[in-house]
Amino acid sequence: MAFSDSGWRWWLIEGHAGLPARTIDHYFRTGDSSGITLLREKAAKSRRFYRIAPTTLPDSPHYFAKQMTLPPRKRLGALLGRSNPLVGYSHGTAELSHNLALNEQTAHGVRTFAFGEYFRGGLPVQQVLLQEYLVDWQPFNAVWKLHEDNATLRRTLLLQFFDMLVSLRDAGISHLDLHPGNVMVSPDLQAPLRAIDCGQMSMEADPAISAALHLGVFLHELNGKCTSPSSQLEDGACRLLYGLVGAEAGFATAERLLPLLVRHSTKKPFSRRCLLRHGPDKLKLDAIEKRLLKLSQHRPSAPAAHVSGTARRQEQRLIASIDEMMTTTR
Ligand SMILES: Nc1ncnc2c1ncn2[C@@H]1O[C@H](COP(=O)(O)OP(=O)(O)O)[C@@H](O)[C@H]1O
Ligand SMILES: [Mg+2]
Repeated sequence: MAFSDSGWRWWLIEGHAGLPARTIDHYFRTGDSSGITLLREKAAKSRRFYRIAPTTLPDSPHYFAKQMTLPPRKRLGALLGRSNPLVGYSHGTAELSHNLALNEQTAHGVRTFAFGEYFRGGLPVQQVLLQEYLVDWQPFNAVWKLHEDNATLRRTLLLQFFDMLVSLRDAGISHLDLHPGNVMVSPDLQAPLRAIDCGQMSMEADPAISAALHLGVFLHELNGKCTSPSSQLEDGACRLLYGLVGAEAGFATAERLLPLLVRHSTKKPFSRRCLLRHGPDKLKLDAIEKRLLKLSQHRPSAPAAHVSGTARRQEQRLIASIDEMMTTTR
């Protein structure tokens, strides 16, 4: 539906979203920002994030909006709701459907209330997801850093993370960018974690490879992207993997893949999706390792070969937290 001549069309998933959707529609048309706070703007990736607090109903909950500009290549994919190498994967249409699936099938999604699109020449050029606002939630990495000395809290965080991976496994969902900045932590530490930024997801991946990907991406980042992690960390990661998917047919391959993912960045131009495309028995681990090594030498942020004492101490703490978490009975 259209609320005005702003050029934006809206799909309301829940009725109450009419008010915040109208508020942001009004802002897009007039520039009047009452009720709208621009939280962040990522120029390079053409994304904007807003908090919306509709002024007509002061007690209304706040909403979160993620606005993205689509590069030409992705517009057709966004229009048709298709994802493939030609038309791209991570447009707002895909993110919307992944968000809805995650929220329906697990306790770890974020509710999406409305979706907006701005068309030009019959194609969507901008899209907006309107979601529940996670009030006072923080990204996992921020909470982790804040509580370096709080072993109990860190153990709780890792237990919560493990629970989330169990849910993703059971739902058959593979989040392709599950780094600690895309996992949100509630101020109530007992609340389930939420996975955000769901543009890249696969619903048909092998469970063991998918679990290795979740753990590898997450632990590589949590370990400060260190390219020479200690073998204890790799062992800890593999024990977590065993706890998740030890009984799966693909476990043996996943167990060999995981240390590579803990060690190396798997950001673009590496394709995580490639790991999921064929069954575990088809994965050529030697070729994957070679490719990861080569890419890591060319990354602009290539870390120093020497690992600082601080980084090693932080790694030891991470290992200790994993050990503690694994031996906790709940
Ligand atoms: N529903 C939400 N409520 C509040 N803050 C959010 C919400 N979703 C995301 N954020 C914040 O916005 C940031 C960016 O969101 P994200 O979807 O990860 O965007 P990007 O694709 O740019 O990484 C997150 O790190 C988080 O701090
Ligand atoms: Mg993100």
